[in-house]
Amino acid sequence: TQKATILAIESSCDETAIAILRGDLMRTEILSSEISSQIEIHREHGGVVPELASRNHSLALRPLVDKALAEAKLSIHDIDAFAATAGPGLASSLLIGHTAAKAMAVATKKPFLSINHMEGHLLSPFIAGDRGVLPNISLVVSGGHTMILHTQEFGSYQLLGKSTDDAAGEAYDKVAKMLGLPYPGGPEIEKTAKTGNPDAYNFPRSMLKKGNLDFSFSGLKTAVLYTISELNPETGRALPEQLPDLCASFQQAVIDVLVKKTIQAAQASKLTRITMSGGVSCNGALRDAMLDACQRHSFQLDICSKHLSTDNAAMIAYVALQKFLRGEQSKLDADIDPNLPL
Ligand code: KG4
Ligand code: ZN
Repeated sequence: TQKATILAIESSCDETAIAILRGDLMRTEILSSEISSQIEIHREHGGVVPELASRNHSLALRPLVDKALAEAKLSIHDIDAFAATAGPGLASSLLIGHTAAKAMAVATKKPFLSINHMEGHLLSPFIAGDRGVLPNISLVVSGGHTMILHTQEFGSYQLLGKSTDDAAGEAYDKVAKMLGLPYPGGPEIEKTAKTGNPDAYNFPRSMLKKGNLDFSFSGLKTAVLYTISELNPETGRALPEQLPDLCASFQQAVIDVLVKKTIQAAQASKLTRITMSGGVSCNGALRDAMLDACQRHSFQLDICSKHLSTDNAAMIAYVALQKFLRGEQSKLDADIDPNLPL
């Protein structure tokens, strides 16, 4: 079967990432996956500053491409096609990676592929596997999206439910901010929750109507805010000793809803496989709860390793490889789209 080598760039937010992936439609191997994180730069501002992000992408990109090629022991002329994230994400950040990949494609006279970031997350549980994309119910939980999909095969995705307000990762980040924890909030809440009691506060589980697979996390966020003010009427700010129970109870409310709706969706389908992807899926408590529920209900669970859960370029290269081997490529005037739908 035909094999190809793809170099992909991911620059949709605050991580500059380059990966080189080689394989055929079934089996792939990550030859290199480099990430240059800007977290320290944005932390003092409490979130991502777009202008700083794009400047740092352009500084980081060139040396990172050389590093990825060296790691894979390849020259740029060994690459069969160049790919980059087209969206969703920050326009000024997307433009840097998208334009750089086009430039490399032009310079080497190779094809260019413009890739959807969410398709990357969605298929990340199949990277470095040996059976291609298998039918599954997919929970995608990132900073910008919370979705349940029916994935039939590569390119065939049916959206079953999504968040009607905040994404799960966004709720983590906003609650962390309320609690005075640094950006990004997800890992901080997970760490702080470890010593807390998840039953300390009975925060709302917004299930909406039974059979409805949409999510809502803004009520939960407001409930945490009220509890902080009730506990601290004078200052409105949580005390350090209050943080573990608040974090553990918030996290449990998020996990209960994510797990319950995913299992419901899987039961309503005829599928036996569940996948989970996106930044929030590196949360250890969520992984444990989903694995436990899948075992109880006899579903096979595929989750990618933690370093492929958060933003990376291997997932972009994986989608690009699938497209390239099917004969697809993008035009050189293909544009980015900050709101690109899946
Ligand atoms: O997929 P991702 O890296 O970027 C987007 O496409 O949004 O996801 C980032 C989100 C952030 O909201 C971050 O707080 C959350 O994933 N996150 C976590 C954890 N690690 C990252 N949420 C909960 N627990 C974690 N360990
Ligand atoms: Zn992402």
